Amino acid sequence: SMSTSRLDASKLQVKRVAQRSEPKPSDELVFGKTFTDHMLTIEWTMDKGWDAPVIKPYGPISLDPASCVLHYAFELFEGLKAYRTEEGKVVLFRAEKNMERMNKSAARICLPGFDSEELIKLIGKLIEEDKHLVPKGQGYSLYIRPTMLGTTDGLGVGYPDKALLYVITSPVGPYYKTGFKAVRLLATDFATRAWPGGVGDKKLGANYAPCVLPQLQAAEKGYQQNLWLFGSEKYITEVGTMNVFFVFKDPKTGKKELVTAPLDGTILEGVTRDSILTLSRERLDPKEWEINERYYTIYEVAERSKKGELVEAFGSGTAVVVSPIKEIGWQGEDIQVPLLPGEQSGELTKTVASWISAIQYGKEQHDNWSRVV
Ligand code: COI
Repeated sequence: SMSTSRLDASKLQVKRVAQRSEPKPSDELVFGKTFTDHMLTIEWTMDKGWDAPVIKPYGPISLDPASCVLHYAFELFEGLKAYRTEEGKVVLFRAEKNMERMNKSAARICLPGFDSEELIKLIGKLIEEDKHLVPKGQGYSLYIRPTMLGTTDGLGVGYPDKALLYVITSPVGPYYKTGFKAVRLLATDFATRAWPGGVGDKKLGANYAPCVLPQLQAAEKGYQQNLWLFGSEKYITEVGTMNVFFVFKDPKTGKKELVTAPLDGTILEGVTRDSILTLSRERLDPKEWEINERYYTIYEVAERSKKGELVEAFGSGTAVVVSPIKEIGWQGEDIQVPLLPGEQSGELTKTVASWISAIQYGKEQHDNWSRVV
């Protein structure tokens, strides 16, 4: 019987750049436009399994024009961040969750699985090579982009027998230079992001390209992002490329409810989403709060806004962490989401952002959510 090689971090080969680059001034960092000196690449074939991992200078990859990724979208990616702590250590935030999701994405499009711990070790080695480029300071981090492609050459539609896994890293600053900036959303039912039985819960590149045109259409009307609705019920699912949370107040009990859509296969299993739910369940007083993953619709939001029961709303994702929402365009009107007086967010939005940031920057420990590179 034939046995194939597993992903093995101990086989790493390193080819360093001749000269390391200087860090860019922090205020010049535009999200995802600056990359570090090195990349990690690992080739896979069905016959041999995972080849030896290589860290080499950042640069172009070469693909046959018939490569299956270019025709049939055999592509998936991840997004996670490494943070520099005040003591100068570099820590990864919940990398296991991203590895778990990456394996699920791979399985769905017939790309190879791998040992999560081995890839985390390799990502650690990659970050170590370019450690001097991990920016310092609140809001700054190293965005890590693991990517996997099917590289089988040929136009027949079938499972890839060759693949490339690579990781690039990008020093990033705060999404909004002036701290939080609340956004306007257009409730969107003229396009659908994901549907039951589809792949909306997987981090496939193919989920992202079709979202750009609806985003431009929203922008033409003066809204930054789409609030994605689903079905005739007009369920609220996600916002832009992020998960979304709403806060309602029950007028009878005075209790507040933090709500986000349930993971039913149409919702990306966001690591920030999970972190917000976990911390809220641990830290918000259950006498004052309910935390629910449940279906809710734009009709409910519009209705409760009229009654003064809509308290706040925010998006959540790795890139931006939390993104406050101030207005939602729906049926020709704007639903106003309250903000704190003179501020760009609501109270809970600020609170969860500070909880998460304390853990990400290593000021606070939470389970094993951060690990030193
Ligand atoms: C996120 O981190 O929220 C994203 O999904 C954005 C990424 C696609 C740039």
